[in-house]
Formats: sequence, C-alpha cells, structure tokens
Amino acid sequence: NITINMNIAIIGNGGREHAICKKVSESKFVKKIFCIPGNAGTALIGSNIDIDILDFNSIYKFIKSYKINLVIVGPEEPLVKGIVDFLKKRKVRVFGPNKYAAKLEGSKAFMKKICQEYKIPTAKFKICNNKTQVNHFLKNIKFPVVVKADGLAAGKGVTICKTKHQVLKASSQIFRGKFKSSKKIVLEEFLTGEEASFFLVVDNKNFKFFGNAQDHKRVFEKDKGPNTGGMGAYSPAPIITKSLEKKIISKIVKPTLLAFKNKNKFYNGFLYVGLMIKKNEPYLIEYNIRMGDPECQAILPRLNTDLVTIINKAIENRLDSINIKWKKKKSMTVVLCAKGYPGNYKKKIKLNNINKIKLFKNDYIYHAGTKIINKEFFSIGGRVLNVSSTGDNYLKIRNKILKILNKFDLKHFFFRRDIGWKIIDKNENYKRFP
Ligand code: AMP
Ligand code: GLY
Repeated sequence: NITINMNIAIIGNGGREHAICKKVSESKFVKKIFCIPGNAGTALIGSNIDIDILDFNSIYKFIKSYKINLVIVGPEEPLVKGIVDFLKKRKVRVFGPNKYAAKLEGSKAFMKKICQEYKIPTAKFKICNNKTQVNHFLKNIKFPVVVKADGLAAGKGVTICKTKHQVLKASSQIFRGKFKSSKKIVLEEFLTGEEASFFLVVDNKNFKFFGNAQDHKRVFEKDKGPNTGGMGAYSPAPIITKSLEKKIISKIVKPTLLAFKNKNKFYNGFLYVGLMIKKNEPYLIEYNIRMGDPECQAILPRLNTDLVTIINKAIENRLDSINIKWKKKKSMTVVLCAKGYPGNYKKKIKLNNINKIKLFKNDYIYHAGTKIINKEFFSIGGRVLNVSSTGDNYLKIRNKILKILNKFDLKHFFFRRDIGWKIIDKNENYKRFP
C-alpha cells in the first residue's frame, strides 16, 4: 500500500512549509521527510535537500533516487510553472494544482474573466494591454484605482493609485516589462471593507473547508507602512460568520469550480480565497493556489485530522470520505522580521537564544528565513520566523507569543505587537501590550 510508510518531500522554505512539515511529521503514515530546500526548522524534523525549486529535472532525479512516495508543493511559483504536470507525467504522486488551474493565481486576467462570466462578486475591472485602454477605463471610475500586474510579481505587482498620473506611471512600467511574467495589467476599482482569508482543500469532485484567518499585510502597527508578505495572522476569523461562509461558498467557490468543470478542467490542491468583506457580503480580491503564509502557521495548529490522509484523499478524489476536524481553540502567529524588511535588511544575523527558549505544549516556533551554519542558527531572510500559539482567548495567546518574541535580539529584529487588534479591541476589550 503506497499510503503507509511514505517518504514525503515538501517543496518550499518558508514558515508555511515548516508548519506543513511539522504536521506531516505527526502522521503515522510517514517514514521520512525531505524539504526542498527547507530552512533551519525543517532541518530539525527531516532532511533539507538543496535543489532550486524551479529545477524540475533535478527535483525529479532526487524523487526517483530517494524513492519519494508523495510530493507536497508549498509555494506558487513552481505550481504556476507546471511542476505538477511535469511530475505527474513521470508518475510521481504530487499534491497541488496543475499548470492550468494555477492560472487562478498566475494570471489575474484569467481569474477576473471567470468572475465576469460567472457573476462572482469582485471589484469592477478592465484588462489592459495599452495606454488607450487605461484612459478609457479611467473615464468612468472613482479614485483610488488599483493597478495590478497580470502575472506573478512576488508580492510587488499591486499599486493603489490616488491619481491618474500614478495609474499611468504604474501601468506603463508594467507594459514596458517590469515583470517577466506578463506585460498585461488589470485595472480595478478600489474596494473598502475588511480583508479575510478563506481556505479549502479541493479535489476533482469535492471540496472541504480548510480554515479561515485574517492576515496583517502592512509592516507597521496600526496597519501603517508598505505591504509585506504578512506580519501575523489569527484563526478563526470572527468576521467569517456561518452566514458569510455560506455566501462565500455559493457566490464565489462553487461558481469558480463550475467554471473549471464546464471547461473540462479540474482544480486539485489547497485553494486560498482572498476576500474583502463589506456589510457582511464577500468580494473576491484574489485567488491563491496554495496555503497562505503566515495564515498556514495559525491554521495548522488547530487541525485535528491527519494531514497526510487529507492530502492522499484529495489526490484520490475521495475528500468526500473524510471529515476534517478542528480543535475548538483560537490560534495566532506573529512574524519576527529582520529590521528594514520589506526593504533592505541585513542577512546572516545570529539567532542567539533560539535553543534556550522554553516552549509550552501549544507554542510553536516555525522557521522561515533561517539556516543552520556550523550548528548555529542564522537569519537569511526578511521574514525570519513565526511564533504561533493556541488557546481560548486571543489576548492571552498574543501575550504568550510576544513574551517569546521579546527574547530575540531586538537590535536586529522587529515584530508587530498588535496582531489581532481588530478583534481584540472589539471583543476582548483590551489594548495594552506586555
Ligand atoms: P493582491 O495581490 O491582489 O492580493 O493584492 C494585494 C493587496 O492589495 C490585497 O491584499 C489588498 O490589501 C490590496 N488590494 C488588492 N486589490 C484591491 C482592491 N480592488 N481594492 C482594495 N484593495 C485591494
Ligand atoms: N498571507 C498572504 C499570502 O500568503 O499571500
């Protein structure tokens, strides 16, 4: 039976992949775990394999020689570039959407066309290839206007513009090839409201809820400063009530999967629905074809069903045969960053205390940009690690997390102390930090 004693390879090197690695390691179906390329955290669980995640040939050679039974792909770039098609063609068992399905994230124009055709609530938009089309869209729209690169842009493809001049500047840069992935843009109306992330695990016939969360994208407290990959998250997100969840499924998820079906295509993998919530109505901002980072680090500690089983069922299109269970706990994660992030920051800062930090049962440190060099831990990225914890009260959870984060060398690192401010202030009526 292929589904016991599995050798599993996880592709990626972020906090998300460490969290996946940790969950996978708790499965009784696993023999050995490999991370490609992994980080200092995954090296403590399995073996890190230093292969470029876009070098599919080398990945395949490794998979063959190490008898890997299952590959789990964490980040979007290899998915958008077709790693699943490549490996499946070579009879490798791999979890994640294929190249066509990955266009949901890989091309904003592709995603928006589905929204238009299936009347999925989203910002008004226009796909443009040139300045004439941009000018035309600007005639009947209020500012701000959002300019988006069509293709993957490593989080740098979105500009919120207050003036026509800004729109023309941002769009002409993309038309001239600022991003390799595409020269098209999507212009959008600016949506107001509250953002939330909603996750599913999807197979060719079924889908199952896989947690919800709220991320904090801006680098500084009170949601100030530039956008980042995410500074912290909590799960569940109280804004996603049962009634809202029903609307998300019926108005957004089902029509999207129907669009695939009508084209004789399938989506198989994690699906991240990025939402704007306004007056208890969901609007689709974006799809991501993977788990969120740092949302994953808040969601997985709550998962009470074997992750390897869930993934195997999804690959076999048998998600209908399992019940995914969640702990009745709240969970939060806060990201420790190198000073200067998301701009320039120092690399190779030693993480002095990391081995001495005492963690209680429900506390986790998920590494992100870290590396072990001569048996010592160093930062090598902007988002360095995540501290996650679970409990019954968001304020108490956050206090536990901040206490742990305070042990790091704050000459070199920083973190937001206000993760969860929207809910903690509203529901738990508290504003002080430890
Ligand atoms: P995206 O890459 O599409 O997720 O955009 C990055 C961020 O830009 C989102 O998380 C939102 O904070 C913001 N954003 C994108 N599109 C819109 C929109 N139409 N209205 C308001 N904010 C947006
Ligand atoms: N946390 C946002 C993302 O994963 O894209």
